[in-house]
This record gives sequence, structure tokens and C-alpha cells, in this order.
Amino acid sequence: MNNQYSAGIIGTGSYLPEKILKNEELEKIMDTSDEWIRTRTGIISRRIADKEMATSDLATKAAINAMKNANITADELDLIIVATVTPDMAFPSTACIVQKNIGAVNAAAFDMEAACTGFVYALTIGEQFIKTGFYKKILIIGAEIFSKIIDWEDRNTAVLFGDGAGAVILVRTEKNTGIISSYLGSDGKDGHVLTLPGGGSRNPINHKMIEDRLHYLKMDGSEVFKFAVRIMGNAALKVLEKADMTLEDIDFLIPHQANIRIIEASAKRLKLPMDKVYVNLNKYGNISAASVPVALDEAVREKRIKSGDNVLLVAFGAGLTWGSSLIKWI
Ligand code: UT7
Repeated sequence: MNNQYSAGIIGTGSYLPEKILKNEELEKIMDTSDEWIRTRTGIISRRIADKEMATSDLATKAAINAMKNANITADELDLIIVATVTPDMAFPSTACIVQKNIGAVNAAAFDMEAACTGFVYALTIGEQFIKTGFYKKILIIGAEIFSKIIDWEDRNTAVLFGDGAGAVILVRTEKNTGIISSYLGSDGKDGHVLTLPGGGSRNPINHKMIEDRLHYLKMDGSEVFKFAVRIMGNAALKVLEKADMTLEDIDFLIPHQANIRIIEASAKRLKLPMDKVYVNLNKYGNISAASVPVALDEAVREKRIKSGDNVLLVAFGAGLTWGSSLIKWI
């Protein structure tokens, strides 16, 4: 099928739980310090969902905000994609729960998983449905509750993550506006550096699995760090190349918010001053698939992005996975 249409974002929304967990509070429950967390990561606080909240609750609120911002109603949606590694349950999908919550009676719905790259993957999937003419309006959400999969006894990982949700509404746009190019990649051979090993078919739920703490996230942070610094620049250059554009064409960068040192290294490689790079990890930590859409929503609301800007989204995550999208903002 010919790509007769372009796909563009007409609305963004986000939702962050109210409870703020500061570094100082972590000092009281584990052997860490505000100074270590700030200097090694840039994180000062993160949001934590209430115990009774599930990912779909956050996703639903972000979706409602995005629909309001896009001035559309739920019955106009053709498809809902939720990117998450912390779904409410194995099935039904979190996307189907959101579909019910918002009353998107005409929409198909599914979850997809590419960890912290999840939103960029989901956006690219949505883009294909729009470009071919198959669908007209798609809700794409990145939502996570990492506080429930973190090992609060592991200071190497517990200080890094947070909870939240971000959403966008993707629609048909005029040719050569909206998403100009996209690039996705993966490397399963190094996937062992960031995993949640328990609870699936490899290590099903049983007492032994829980005693071994396999139901919590495991990470080799320095290996992920090295991969991230390399891949963020590569993924950005690749998507520019695909669009026949150069570094000078980038107006604004929305990077995955994992570590300020990774973001600064990426900005340097892309020759971008930090005022053209959105950073909110100081407030929220790493919210995985929600990281990019929450940052995008905040950047839009703060008017850091204007019509006609070339906005670059770049993310990396477990899998290993990576992806980038270049968007001419409508
Ligand atoms: O979205 C993808 C998910 N993950 C990431 O993007 C994470 C990528 N990696 C990173 O951001 C960094 O590698 C970390 C922030 C995780 C770690 O920073 P680092 O500079 O690579 O530190 P390190 O792992 O080399 O650890 C240095 C030291 C170790 O102590 P020793 O062995 O040198 O005595 C750690 O035990 O820091 C210690 N450490 C801590 N100290 C205080 C590790 N975590 C903490 C902590 N508080 N929370």
C-alpha cells in the first residue's frame, strides 16, 4: 500500500502520581545519599503511585488529558496502544482496560513492550497505521508503575525509577508534517543487562522464585550506561540520515530520561546546547515507557516547542532496544 498520508501529534497529556519521594527519604531506608544520587544521576525526587493504583489508572488520566488537549472525544479513536512493562496484569491488556475506562467504543486496543523505548516503538507502529490509511486517530500511551517492580533493598536500582504516564493523539496530517522519519533497533544478545526474570514462563510464580527475588528488576547499570551513551547518538544520527537532514536541522531534543550524564553526552554528540534539550528526570527519575511522552507533554505545555520545529525523540531500554522519531511539529 502506498503511504498516502503523514502522521502527526495533535494533542499530548500526562499524569504523575501526587506522592513525591525525595532522595532524602531514601537515605532513611537504604545505604545511599542525596549527594550520590544527584551527582551520579541528576535525580532529586520521583513520583510514587498509591498502593491500590494500577498502571491503567495512570494511563487513563494521561489519555483523558491528551484527548482534551487534542479536542477529540473517545469515540473518535480507532486504536489504543499502551507501551508498558508494568501492565495491570498479564491479560487483559492495559490498553483494553483504558479502552473501557475512557469509553473508546470504536477502538481496537493492545499493549506492546520495548521497555524504556516502548513509547517510541508504539509511536512508530501508530505512524504505520495512519500512513497506510488503515486508521485515522490513534491514542498512544506510555505508562508505568516501576515502584512495584523495584527491589527496595537494592540501592543500585531503587533510587533510579519512578511512576507516571504520558499520552499523545496521533492523526492524519498534511504531507511532510508530523513524523518525518522513524528508526527502531534491537540487540537481544545483550538483553541480560536489564531484566525482570520472574513471573513469566521461564521462571513462573512460585515460592522459590520469590525467595530468590526474581520478581524484581535487575540491572548492570554501568553496562546499560555504556550502551546508552553509544546508542542515543547513533539512533539520532540514523533518523536524521533517513530524513536526509543534518544535526543543524534539530530544533529540540526529547531524550529518554534515565541519567543526566547520558543526556548531556548525547547532547554533546549532537552538538545541541542544553537549552534545546528537555530534562525533567530531576523531578521524576526514570519512568521507562512514560519518560518520553511525559517530557514531550511538559515541553509542549511550557511552550518550548513551536509549530514548524523539528523535534527529535530518542530512547533506549531493556531488550536491548532503541528508537528515534523526527517530528515536524504541527
Ligand atoms: O532506562 C534504562 C535503565 N537504566 C539506565 O539507564 C541506567 C544506566 N546506568 C546508570 O545510570 C549508572 O550506571 C548508575 C546511575 C546506575 C550507576 O552509576 P555509575 O557511575 O555507573 O556507578 P557504578 O555502578 O560504577 O557504582 C559506583 C559505586 C559502587 O560502589 P563501589 O563498588 O565503587 O564501592 C556502587 O555500589 O556506587 C555504589 N552505588 C551507590 N552508592 C550510594 C550504587 N548505587 C548507589 C546508591 N547510593 N544508590
